[in-house]
Amino acid sequence: MRSSEVIVVGSGIAALQTALGAAITKNVIIFTKDKLRSSNSYLAQGGIAAAISAEDSTDKHAQDTLLAGRNYNNPDAVLKLVQEAPAVMNSLILSGMEFDRERGGKVSLGMEGAHSERRIMHRDGDATGKYLIEHYLSQLEKSSIKVMEEKEVIELIIGEDDSCIGVKTLDPEGRKESYYGNHIVLATGGCGALYRFTSNSPGVTGDGIAMALKAGARIKDMEFIQFHPTLLFINGKTHGLVSEAVRGEGAKLVTESDKKVMEGVHPLNDLAPRHIVAQTIYAYLQQGERVYLDISMIPAFKKRFPTISLLCERNGIDNSSGKIPVAPGNHFLMGGIETDNVGRTSVRGLYAVGEAACSGVHGANRLASNSLLEGIVFGKAVGSFIASEPERELPNQRFEPTNRSHIPTLPSLSELSEKLMRYAGIIRNETGLETLLDWLGSFDLAEVLEGSGSGLTKEQIRAANGILVAWLIAESALCRKESRGGHFRSDYPVENDKDWLKQSVVIDKNKME
Ligand code: SIN
Repeated sequence: MRSSEVIVVGSGIAALQTALGAAITKNVIIFTKDKLRSSNSYLAQGGIAAAISAEDSTDKHAQDTLLAGRNYNNPDAVLKLVQEAPAVMNSLILSGMEFDRERGGKVSLGMEGAHSERRIMHRDGDATGKYLIEHYLSQLEKSSIKVMEEKEVIELIIGEDDSCIGVKTLDPEGRKESYYGNHIVLATGGCGALYRFTSNSPGVTGDGIAMALKAGARIKDMEFIQFHPTLLFINGKTHGLVSEAVRGEGAKLVTESDKKVMEGVHPLNDLAPRHIVAQTIYAYLQQGERVYLDISMIPAFKKRFPTISLLCERNGIDNSSGKIPVAPGNHFLMGGIETDNVGRTSVRGLYAVGEAACSGVHGANRLASNSLLEGIVFGKAVGSFIASEPERELPNQRFEPTNRSHIPTLPSLSELSEKLMRYAGIIRNETGLETLLDWLGSFDLAEVLEGSGSGLTKEQIRAANGILVAWLIAESALCRKESRGGHFRSDYPVENDKDWLKQSVVIDKNKME
């Protein structure tokens, strides 16, 4: 039997920050299904929001976060996020992380949609995530934390007392192993890569959320998905993110004939909240129009945005033409595994942090550049909570999952991603959501929910988890009969402030069965 006191699943900023914090007193092991550098955090372009300028304040940062989240946020979590931001960023700088600076030496602060002040700290223009993760990886190397790459966690092990006591893993050779621990942390990200159009790293397929559901945890707010307005769009396919910081520097969304897309739609024009910009672009695309980012007014674009310039070049887009073709796609999940502010889920011993978690900090829509910040602030909270926890004697395992006697029928991931984009995408309605639920119901969801991951191939595990996550999204979106933040229903197009409509949609295994 292999054991470690703390098991962290994932390799983004929330995973690394949690692991480093917990490792102060505990033995920690990290499992990642891919390589350590394959994460959404590594791809993050915009930066990290913190109220550090003389003009700014944590109150203003909180107000912007609440407004973007349509006041659906958990106010305690928001206060924690914005109030801790300046200090955590300062200690990050003291630990050696560098940010871009102005000539006089002050940290250069970028602007993004729905921010009332310039407060986005960035590195090398648009490569913040890469430098941040490299910085954390250099700290990881100096720590006692053990890292297992390409070892996919396929199942949570549950004890006789219903607590989580470990994980089952699958390696590329098909070998399965069990690892036991006192604290199991899911930092597996959201579910962006389940959608046809996405900015996410290919491995972000909602597996942590599906495993938590199967283990009995409460899953919350799955209808709230942020669609980023500007993904590079060529020949009907998206090819990665074109940061909102580009619009922050003055770029405008235009049609082929240079009509300004956001004019008259929202007082903030191109820097309106993301859901409004995404819905507007989507409406143009639906009418057969193309939408572009006009970047002709940004001097030295390549210097300010080297990552985006490279992305364009690699995909055959010549930036000197001044126009980048764009379309919206799944970028971030505001919902996820319900947690408190130290990452505890409704299952003892099981924690969630970062995009996999739903502490309520982002409400119905996340403010730009609050996600790396969330990973750092909440990662610290979860790590130090675990570090201070006494060890418990692990109970016996509830049952040893056995290989399945039969493999359930499962859809292909490409079919699933089409359906999710079409029926639970930027614009939803009852008919579409019911079509999706009917289609999902044609697979044996109960068997998938109860069955073990053992006996399935990696692709089958992904598809099995994918249909559970798709069901959670469709069911939550159907329940919420209003439009709020990232959730837009054409049949209920406005926010409805009646109290019951503000109620969270929380689903657990019992509700699903
Ligand atoms: C962006 O750079 O536009 C994305 C940043 C974020 O989602 O916070």
